[in-house]
Amino acid sequence: KKIELDHADTEKGVYAHYMLKEINEQPAVVRRILTNYYDTETSRIPKSLISAIQQSDRIYILAAGTSMHAGLIGKNLFEKITNIPTEVHIASEFAYQRPLLSKSPFFILVSQSGETADLRACLVELKTSNYQILTITNVPSSTLAREATFALEIHAGPEIAVASTKAYIAQIAILALLANSITESSIDMKKELSIVANAIENFLANESILTHVRNKLTKPNCFYIGRGLDYYTGLEASLKLKEISYIQTEGFAAGELKHGTIALIEEGTPVIALISDPKINHNTRSNLNEVSARGANTLHIVTSNCEEPEDEIILDTVHPLLTPMIMVVPTQLISYYAALERSHDIDKPRNLAKSVTVE
Ligand code: G6P
Repeated sequence: KKIELDHADTEKGVYAHYMLKEINEQPAVVRRILTNYYDTETSRIPKSLISAIQQSDRIYILAAGTSMHAGLIGKNLFEKITNIPTEVHIASEFAYQRPLLSKSPFFILVSQSGETADLRACLVELKTSNYQILTITNVPSSTLAREATFALEIHAGPEIAVASTKAYIAQIAILALLANSITESSIDMKKELSIVANAIENFLANESILTHVRNKLTKPNCFYIGRGLDYYTGLEASLKLKEISYIQTEGFAAGELKHGTIALIEEGTPVIALISDPKINHNTRSNLNEVSARGANTLHIVTSNCEEPEDEIILDTVHPLLTPMIMVVPTQLISYYAALERSHDIDKPRNLAKSVTVE
């Protein structure tokens, strides 16, 4: 399974689909980022970028789709590591309904393609106000990378499947490295990210997701529930399942489900729980009991520090700020196999484009 990125970047190789190949490339992508961003122990993030962020009083992350979900993980990283308040906005909303900005804002635009029109609209607007903008893209020659004040590359290699997987992981890794460069952080991010790469590899080598997909995803709808970072992972997991399996899926904050949406739970409704934070493990399990009592067919995806006997998918424990990078991987495979079982065009799902250049 272990694959290197240098050769056959745009070939499917032994994989049936680009999406499966890209999921399997993820450990290599994280390692490539470490090689590209570290000069032995010091990170290669430009000093001018670091000082621009240090001088700002609020960070605004703008993005669309999967990149927006990476932005949510980034918000947590920035707030926990740097103490700088951070907001995440959907680019198409921000462009025309700008929130009240702080005195010294700093903007981070996250985009795999670097061509998303909704983000370009934000960039053009922000440039007229002379704001400092960083773009984080997978394509250094892209419009967003060229037109911003600063640009960082995620080094994910070409992502061919429309449903984004390795770019999401790479975006989080870059946001983590960046946040960690802003302050005298006590986190050894290089080490923590290599632990993540090993954890992903370990899971991919032992995964047996297909059986869960067959047993659980038998209905036209599905829910992902989680709290904190697992809620954000649930949003990305549900987007991925919608995109390629066409199962109507919702990512929900586990504690909020009972305030209305639980009305949709009936006999056999699939509910996938994401649990990676020991502090709120118990709370999410109470919510699981609520849905089970109403007939939900549940699946538990947990990290080993939260494991209980009834859990089905157990992942290695990684640094608490980086858990989304491991938690998302089984959900990517759940989507992949759900689409495969339904004989869908996995790499080119209906109605979707890899990069959306119209607003
Ligand atoms: C499209 C793609 C999504 C992607 C989104 C943002 O809708 O289908 O997979 O997440 O655009 O793309 P970007 O290139 O800006 O990350």
